[in-house]
Amino acid sequence: EAKLKLFGVQDDLKLSLNAIQVLRERYLLKDQEGNPVETPRQMMERVARAIAQIDASYGEDPEVSYQEFLKTLMALDFLPNSPTLMNAGCPGGQLAACFVLPIEDSLDAIFEALKNMALIHKSGGGTGFSFSRLRPRGDRVSSTGGRASGPVSFMRIFDTATDVVKQGGKRRGANMGILRFNHPDILEFIQAKKKGGEFENFNFSVAITDQEMEAVRKNEKIPLTNPRDGKVWREVSAAEIFNVICESAWSSGEPGCIFIDEINRKHPLKTLGVIEATNPCGEVPLLPFESCNLGSINLAHMVNNGKIDYAKLGETVRIAVHFLDNVIDANYHPLPETERMAKANRKIGLGVMGFADLLVKIGVPYYSQQALKIAEEIMQYIMLQARKTSLELASRRGTFPNFEKSTWYTQNLPLRNATLTSIAPTGSISIIAGCSSGIEPYFALSFRRYVLENTELIEVNPLLEEYLKGLKLSQKDWERILAQGTLQGIEQIPQKVKDLFRTALEIPPEFQVKVQAAFQKYVDNAVSKTINLPQNASLEEVKKVFFLAHETHCKGITVFRQGSRSRQAIYPGLLS
Ligand code: CDP
Repeated sequence: EAKLKLFGVQDDLKLSLNAIQVLRERYLLKDQEGNPVETPRQMMERVARAIAQIDASYGEDPEVSYQEFLKTLMALDFLPNSPTLMNAGCPGGQLAACFVLPIEDSLDAIFEALKNMALIHKSGGGTGFSFSRLRPRGDRVSSTGGRASGPVSFMRIFDTATDVVKQGGKRRGANMGILRFNHPDILEFIQAKKKGGEFENFNFSVAITDQEMEAVRKNEKIPLTNPRDGKVWREVSAAEIFNVICESAWSSGEPGCIFIDEINRKHPLKTLGVIEATNPCGEVPLLPFESCNLGSINLAHMVNNGKIDYAKLGETVRIAVHFLDNVIDANYHPLPETERMAKANRKIGLGVMGFADLLVKIGVPYYSQQALKIAEEIMQYIMLQARKTSLELASRRGTFPNFEKSTWYTQNLPLRNATLTSIAPTGSISIIAGCSSGIEPYFALSFRRYVLENTELIEVNPLLEEYLKGLKLSQKDWERILAQGTLQGIEQIPQKVKDLFRTALEIPPEFQVKVQAAFQKYVDNAVSKTINLPQNASLEEVKKVFFLAHETHCKGITVFRQGSRSRQAIYPGLLS
């Protein structure tokens, strides 16, 4: 009833009220007065049609794909990243979520990158940058005889421009700012966000090499080097810098680290250059001007009778890879360079959401060895099925143009796409699908979530009610569960159920890293995961997590200690 009122149109999608609200505010096409001119079903039809249409350009029948795409989207079994849902089928529609832009050490190049960022944000994409090539603060500027401002000052301009140019008017622009561990301005960079009020449109990450991690472990000195001329600026203790990184991450959640050697070791296109940056949330390392379009399979829907439905999962992967490959051709790029790169490498990032839901449905606690085994099993299966589909596509449509320059060539795997998998945060599309986000454990069993500037969503775990139905809980117990957002301290509830619904802060951080590593093992790009720490976590705990992430071959790491930011995106429980 409420749904119909909210929307005014009958629809046959199984959407939650929150999903409808999010769709209505940001996704559905609107007229000039701002009223939606399509229903959620019509949105899915628009997207399915625009993407299926690409088949015709390969001499394939788009009608079959249209039906498959529509069925999968309508069932909420798979959703592409937000820009595809918002813009597919619209004139000039930009469909990819992630871009990386290069920044060279000249005013000309910096402001060129700034302009390109604005164009990408306007189109709905997010941008990642390495600022490592910029000369340090105080260095000589030969043309004027003056002194350089350094990377952090220039980042401020990018941050301000992001404020001004909203992403297609639909969401805040997102950036990743990266600086190398051995840049002379590294300490200023690490602490730049500490003051607050600045750089709110940036995630910060330090790019650290294996050698530097080794120097941290052995308590050795490393040279900070001026990227302009390669001259050593000064020598510092690696462990001291690392300490400042961890302290800052402990107190504010930033910076994260990216393990740049692991990223480049695993990159299938090494011959094209060195990767220096990732997209805003870290799940896609990219070469300059590369972009990536993402999509996520809803694992909550891949369960049948308490078992993982591998047949359905395999079929969904096939449809999703076909869909995402088509998106590359359906996309209108804001820049000719990004279009050229996207079509030369054809990178896509298929991932998952609803992992925590799947575990509940098959009765396996998130915090268990079995969950790690299942994570690997599922992701390996997705990877293999994705490759199979990409091979099939290549046999009909050809390999990606840079195939012979890739490691796939030496492995004799003629793929259509240089990368296939990536695990995104699914911040918005998991709300639309009504599942848990990405591979995260439940943050809380009830929570207030803030989306956009001032929309408050109240959510209660939909699977919980089903489990507690038979227990005849008192009103007081229910109220307590809703208020605290966990099952802790409720005697009526058996330990088995409590284990199944353990929330992020009740799961040891080291274990959360292992979950990230388990998925990373079978992911071509990277994995977005926030390692949640309780408020009383120590600095040592943070360090342990960073080391463990490096040792277990994660490509990056982000921590978040409860209460460490004045304004969080999600608050557990319904208590104010
Ligand atoms: O759920 P949705 O498709 O909206 O996005 P996500 O999975 O939370 O984020 C995927 C990627 O979209 C991020 O890594 C960014 O590259 C991009 N993004 C963005 O550009 N702006 C935002 N406000 C959120 C995400």
